[in-house]
Amino acid sequence: MLDFRRRILRWFRRHGRDLPWRRTRDPYAVLVAEVMLQQTQVSRVTEYYDTFLTACPTVDSLAAATPSQVRALWHGLGYYRRANNLHALAREVVTQYDGQLPRDPAALATLPGVGRYTAGAVATFAYEQAVPAVDTNVDRVIRRAFHPRTPHDAAGNARVWKTAGRLVPRRGRAAWTFNQGIMELGAIRCTARMADCPHCPVRPTCATGRRKGERPSDMLAGT
Ligand code: ADE
Repeated sequence: MLDFRRRILRWFRRHGRDLPWRRTRDPYAVLVAEVMLQQTQVSRVTEYYDTFLTACPTVDSLAAATPSQVRALWHGLGYYRRANNLHALAREVVTQYDGQLPRDPAALATLPGVGRYTAGAVATFAYEQAVPAVDTNVDRVIRRAFHPRTPHDAAGNARVWKTAGRLVPRRGRAAWTFNQGIMELGAIRCTARMADCPHCPVRPTCATGRRKGERPSDMLAGT
C-alpha cells in the first residue's frame, strides 16, 4: 500500500495534466468542475469551464442567476439536470451555509446533485482533506490493483471505498495529489478499454499488472 501510494504521487507530479480545476482550491470552482466532469469528458469540460466561471464566479452569483441564464451556460454539456441541481445547490448554500460550501463530506452529500464521490472530491480537492473520492476511474484502478475478483455489488463497492480510504495519505497536500493521481492513472493509463501495464507506474504493486501484462487487453476482457 505504501509503495502504491508513493508511486502514484511520484508519477502524478511528473505526468499529471495541467487542468484548470487543478489550479484552484476555491471550493465552488472545484465543485463546478466535478459536476461538469460527472458525465462529460475532460476535453469538453475545458471548453465550458472558464466561460461558466466568468459568468458566475461565486456561489452567490450563481444563486442570483436566472434559470434561463444557467441553462444557456450549460447548453451543449448535456444532462441538464446537473445544471438545475447546481443552481438549487447554490441557493441552498447561500441560505443554509452563508455562501460557504461545507467542508464535511457528509454535509456536502446532502446538497442537490452531490453524491458520495462529488462530496469526497470537494473535500479533498478544495479543502485538502485526507478522504477518498472514488469515481469510475478510481474504482477500476483499485479493483485491478487490489481486488481483481471483487463483485460489483454493494459489498464490493464498500470494499473499494475502504481500500481507497486506507490509501489516501494523511497529509492534506499529499492527499490532494494522491487523489488526483489515482484518478489520472485511470483516465490515461489504466483505462476501461486497455490497461497499459508496460507503462504503468504501479505495475510492481498491482495484482493485475504483476500477474501478466503481456497482453493486458486480452487478460482484462470482460472487466
Ligand atoms: N474527472 C473527475 N474529476 C476529475 C479531476 N479532478 N481531474 C480529471 N478528471 C476528473
